[in-house]
Amino acid sequence: MIKITTDTAQTEAVGAALAARLLDCGKEKAFVALYGDMGVGKTAFCRGFCQKIGILRVKSPTYTIVNEYTGGVRPVFHLDLYRLSGVQDLESIGFGEYLRRRGIILCEWPERAEDALPPDRIRVYLSRTENEGERTIDIRFPGEGDMIC
Ligand SMILES: Nc1ncnc2c1ncn2[C@@H]1O[C@H](COP(=O)(O)OP(=O)(O)OP(=O)(O)O)[C@@H](O)[C@H]1O
Ligand SMILES: [Mg+2]
Repeated sequence: MIKITTDTAQTEAVGAALAARLLDCGKEKAFVALYGDMGVGKTAFCRGFCQKIGILRVKSPTYTIVNEYTGGVRPVFHLDLYRLSGVQDLESIGFGEYLRRRGIILCEWPERAEDALPPDRIRVYLSRTENEGERTIDIRFPGEGDMIC
């Protein structure tokens, strides 16, 4: 599924739409990997996603590596692996534990830990276009086509 957005609010709306789809099919656990350059809109996407879950305070976990949000209809674990110096650091943030927990993981900079990611993850690729403020958002579901449930 490919969407083009022209401002932050539209990227948030695409995030919200993905959350709505996961909620619609009653999904309790998911790993959403957000790929894309610095400042492309990964955190904006997460903000919109979380809003739909009922979580209003979303802060980039750039320094903390992980933010846990409760208080929505699902727990959301927001990861930013940018500062990870290697896969050995995953243990110290309790990465394996997050994979086991019931809840939705939103992971920025997943390529920092590519080998440790669950194969059934939802992959979201964000990229800039030649137009200022425009982004392409390509969402790939595991398996065939656009099925998530
Ligand atoms: N179409 C768009 N969608 C999302 N953000 C946009 C768009 N157009 C402009 N922007 C701007 O791009 C920036 C996106 O910032 P954001 O923190 O979401 O990026 P990020 O991918 O999470 O970066 P980082 O890799 O540093 O975590 C914001 O300043 C936002 O206003
Ligand atoms: Mg970010």
